[in-house]
Amino acid sequence: MQILIVGGGGREHALAWKLAQSPRAKKIYCAPGNAGISRIAECINLKPSDLSGLANFAESQRIDLTVVGPEAPLAAGIVDRFEARGLPIFGPSTDPARIEGSKAFAKEIMVRYGIPTGAFRVAAGIDEAHEHVRDHFASELGQAGAVIKADGLAAGKGVIVVGTEEEAHAAVDQIMRDREFGSAGDTLLVEERLTGQEVSIMAFTDGEHLVAMPPSQDHKRALDGDQGPNTGGMGAYSPVPVAPPELVDQVVQQVLAPAVRAIRDLGIPYKGVLYAGMMLTPAGLRTLEFNCRFGDPETQVVLPLLETDLLDLLESAVSCCLDEATVRWSSQAAVNVVAASGGYPGAYQSGKPITGLDRAAQAPGSIVLHAGTRDEAGQVLTDGGRVLSVTALGRDFAEAQKRAYEAMGYISFEGMHVRSDIGARAIAAD
Ligand code: AMP
Ligand code: GLY
Repeated sequence: MQILIVGGGGREHALAWKLAQSPRAKKIYCAPGNAGISRIAECINLKPSDLSGLANFAESQRIDLTVVGPEAPLAAGIVDRFEARGLPIFGPSTDPARIEGSKAFAKEIMVRYGIPTGAFRVAAGIDEAHEHVRDHFASELGQAGAVIKADGLAAGKGVIVVGTEEEAHAAVDQIMRDREFGSAGDTLLVEERLTGQEVSIMAFTDGEHLVAMPPSQDHKRALDGDQGPNTGGMGAYSPVPVAPPELVDQVVQQVLAPAVRAIRDLGIPYKGVLYAGMMLTPAGLRTLEFNCRFGDPETQVVLPLLETDLLDLLESAVSCCLDEATVRWSSQAAVNVVAASGGYPGAYQSGKPITGLDRAAQAPGSIVLHAGTRDEAGQVLTDGGRVLSVTALGRDFAEAQKRAYEAMGYISFEGMHVRSDIGARAIAAD
């Protein structure tokens, strides 16, 4: 089979790495890919936003399956376009992808289908938004602060967690008056601020059946001890000690299955990966968000635990029969540690030579996954905020973490920043 992967980050490297293990994968292309992906796939110079270019490529190269990483092409309609041309593709079409693309739509589904989530109000204008903030802080909910969210896609930045009413009004102004997230802020949500541990639960779905993946936990903050600004993710681990199999089952029954049913009831079955961002609050499970795709960096720890053929699974999801798929997961622990450019998520420099990659790739139980890297004259250079990561497996989290940091220890580039406590919470709970 010929496969096309859309995207060029660590998630797509993990997808390419896993798909390359399938005996049926004859050739893998990746658009645009990165220096690491180019070792196992042919990288093509097409942007994920170039939907026509991608469809033309898939048609001319007779691609048997296209797998989409990022949310933007899904929201822009890549699946609709491919399907209209009879090109097989893994991912939801535009309407179901709104479960990530509109937070108000996601909340509407949660309310209608009894999916546990926090209290919220939706505002379509700035006066209404300020009024919701005043009401929120006049009620008991205000004691914990609030979360102000732009409704639409804002590259993961449209969520502002605040402690006081003053900060909440400022966040409303930022989104609706200053339009910091553009049209994503035409509508906003004022939400109850929840507390607890976050867990990501992803599942493959064919629109009817679900196959849950092991739970994972992201590390969003830039600095040790969950300090500093939010990032695209500085590391992850899987499974999650505070989310045992019974809890994952509960999320499947109470959150993911009703959401898939809700989409089916709208008339367009959801095919692809559905990702539930959960908060384990003292009052029980609460759904923070849905994503319509594989998580990043969650995929980098979950796929290395998959013992069965990923290509079979993706094909079953596209062609309807996920209930017939046999899926096995390793009982090992996985830890992923990210190396970022100095200054990230603020301004940073690119084009720095990276050394030690070959040595790191030989470290036991470890996989080096590239994100922002490029090749230039035989040298791998940094080319983004999150540059690369190492995933390591071990009998337990302590071993996996030790291996990941050992392999990362060989890698170096100017300004390299790595958190030193990825997986510490899992080790403490193990
Ligand atoms: P979202 O894109 O909706 O998942 O929000 C991004 C991040 O903001 C989440 O991973 C949480 O860390 C935080 N967050 C979102 N909603 C809430 C909430 N209602 N209460 C507390 N934190 C939240
Ligand atoms: N790790 C969070 C996300 O993929 O959205």
